[in-house]
Order: sequence, then structure tokens, then C-alpha cells
Amino acid sequence: MTDTVTTTLATTLQLPCGAVLPNRIAKAAMSEQLAQRDGTTTDKLHRLYAVWGRSGAGLLITGNVMIDRDALTEPGNVILDDARDLDGIRAWAGAAKEGGAQVWMQINHPGKVAVAPFDKRPVAPTAIRSTVPGYNIRKPRTLTAGDIDVLIGRFARTAELAMAGGFDGVQIHAAHGYLLSQFLSPLSNHREDAWGGDPERRMRLLLDVVSAVRGTIGSDQPIAVKLNSRDFTHGGFGTGDALEVALALAAAGIDLLEISGGGYEAPAMTGVARGQEDRPHEAYFAEFAEQLRAHTDLPIMLTGGLRTPAHMSTLVSNGTVDVIGLGRPMTFVPNYPARILAGERPTLPRGPRRTGYRPLDGYLELAWHNAQIHRITAGKTPQRHPGAHTIARAATRLTKAAARQATIPR
Ligand SMILES: Cc1cc2nc3c(=O)[nH]c(=O)nc-3n(C[C@H](O)[C@H](O)[C@H](O)COP(=O)(O)O)c2cc1C
Repeated sequence: MTDTVTTTLATTLQLPCGAVLPNRIAKAAMSEQLAQRDGTTTDKLHRLYAVWGRSGAGLLITGNVMIDRDALTEPGNVILDDARDLDGIRAWAGAAKEGGAQVWMQINHPGKVAVAPFDKRPVAPTAIRSTVPGYNIRKPRTLTAGDIDVLIGRFARTAELAMAGGFDGVQIHAAHGYLLSQFLSPLSNHREDAWGGDPERRMRLLLDVVSAVRGTIGSDQPIAVKLNSRDFTHGGFGTGDALEVALALAAAGIDLLEISGGGYEAPAMTGVARGQEDRPHEAYFAEFAEQLRAHTDLPIMLTGGLRTPAHMSTLVSNGTVDVIGLGRPMTFVPNYPARILAGERPTLPRGPRRTGYRPLDGYLELAWHNAQIHRITAGKTPQRHPGAHTIARAATRLTKAAARQATIPR
């Protein structure tokens, strides 16, 4: 059995652009929050990727990198909107590639959920506040058509800089309630122009971004998109919408579609959204992947709750998905893929205790695992039994970082 599991997951995968993944296990994007105040990279970030570069994963996708220094997802994000730190970007990519993995940069704009800098007003498809306390301090401004053109150019510019800095590909973040996913959602996009009004126009920005990035990086480099299978919000982006967008992305010629779900309001990506209670704790979005597979051969990566090697292998061998995405396990067991490929099933600590308030529980999941990332960079081993002090320390660190990022050096 183990041999079959190992053989399946160790198989290479050729993507439509011609690039080859050395195996089927990918480290999913996890925001590292390790950049300097001006968004440039740090030795800690390079060290982290030197560790993950030897993790056994065939593909490493970075935490989200900002395309615009006027809008950050979290304090400590890498910002890549000009060439000021290309040496740092090269060092980052170089460290990550040491073990032979493909290394892709995830590029993102938070839209209305931008937490920093405080001296700038967030932007959104429509000026509607986020409903989650903590993310709705400032009412967003509606983007003009001119602003949207500029943003498309920014996605393409960041992709171009990533490739110039030695990355092998890019992933466009269109999931989890950030700007591109805000455009896709009928709850946050009330526009009645070329960018909203019906599903076709709501997906236009994402498709234009894909096309601009393709125009910049060329046809032989990988472009991935991370998309929600649904937002888990009443009246929001649903499974039917996701299928349509996924098929449009396949037609647009992307190389890999990563499937996730949820956002700050309903953190389904980490398994804490309403409606997930009665679901298996394994492979949260596998059902959607099956539905999608019936319509397309587009390479699919599935991320969220995957923990059992036999289950991962079955999903790949029966053709439901092509790549298995792993997030949180990589923070507690940094060589998790290599261990799976060696036939082991590494144990992981239980997640943080749930409070019952889902947005907070989603935040605790992030803080709990981000704390382990910080330990790895300090040369420490991940904690065996993290507790409340882990969360308290992470919250203090993040609050201080947020205060430092009230403004961002230009
Ligand atoms: C600390 C942390 C940071 C994350 N940051 C990002 C991110 O920058 N971009 C993204 O697309 N997903 C992000 N995620 C979500 C993961 O990519 C993944 O979808 C989620 O953790 C579910 O996979 P898992 O069950 O294997 O952890 C983050 C998750 C964690 C725990």
C-alpha cells in the first residue's frame, strides 16, 4: 500500500506551459510576515525557504506578495512593486530552489480588507465595508475604471519582477475574499459597468489579470490561480459561479488551478466555516474538485485539510486532482512531504482551542501556525504543545508590526 502511495505522489507532472513539477506535493501559500517595513525581504525569510526548499515538496508557493505598497494584507508582507530589492528576491528564490522544487510567487492585492498602511484608504469594487470586526475600520473607496487599469498593470509588473528575480512561476490569488475575489462576489461587487452586473463581468478583472500576466511572462512559464470553490457566505460566490470561473480560466490557458474556499468572514480554508461541521476533516473541497474534473483536464491542486497520505494518493491516482496542497502541516513538520514520500505519516498537534466565534477562530489558526514559522526562522524546532502563550506572543508581535506599518516608506 505504502509503495503505491509513494509511487503515485512521487510522479512528475508536466504542466500545459511545459514546466515539470518533480512530484505531486506542494507547499501552499502561507503569509510569512517576515519582510522589512518597506516590504523588502529579510535573511529570516531566505532561511525559512532554505528549510522548505529541502522539504521534499515539488512545488513551493510563497505567502502572498503585495503588488502595491498602498495596500497590505498583513504587516510584514513582502511588497514587490518596483525593482528596489531584486537582489533580495533573487536570494529568496535561490534559497527555495536549492532542493530542486519549482518555486512560484503568490501575488495579491487585499482590496477592502487591507490592514496596512493606515494612512491610505482601502479600495474595493464597491464601497461596502467588510463585516468582520477588525477589517472594517476604514470604509473602502470604489475603484474607478482608470484605477482598475492601473491595478491590472501592477499584477503584470509584479509577475515580471518575480520572474526577473529567479522565481519559476506565479500564482494569482483570487480566493479568500481579497480584491480579485471581492470582484467575483455579488455581495461585494455591486458595479453596473464593465466590471460587474453579471457573472461574466464580475470575472472580467481576474481574466484580464491572467491575460496581462501571460503577456508579460510569456507562454512557457507557469501561471496558477487560487480560487474559492465557494465563499461560504449567504448569497455570495457559490459553487456554480466557481465552476464557470474555473472553466473560463482553463480556456484562458492557465497551468494550475488551486482550489480553496472561504475568507475572513467564513474561514473555510482552515476548516472553521459554518457548514463544515458535518464534513470530513479531510480534503474540505474534494467534492468541488470532482465536479470540476468532470468538465476539464486543467491541472488541479487541492488544498485544505489533506492529512492522510493514502487519501492524497487516491485523489491523484483516480484523476480527481493532480497536485496535493499542504499548508499548516509544513509549519509543524517542515519536511512533511519528504516524510510522506518515505512512507511515513507524521503526527501533528491539534489546532488551537475553538472559541465558537468563527472569524476569531480563523485568526487563531493563522497566528498559531505563523508562530511556528517564526520559530523555524530562528533555528528552533516547532512547538510540541503550543498553548495560549503562543497566541499571546503572536498577537503582540503582529500588533507591534501593524503599528510600525502605519505608513510604508516609499
Ligand atoms: C499562517 C497561514 C497563512 C496563510 N497565508 C496564506 C496566503 O498568504 N495565501 C493563501 O492563498 N493562503 C494562505 N493561507 C491558507 C493556506 O494556503 C491553505 O489554503 C490553508 O491553510 C488550508 O490548507 P491546510 O489544511 O493544508 O493548512 C494561510 C494559512 C495559514 C495557516
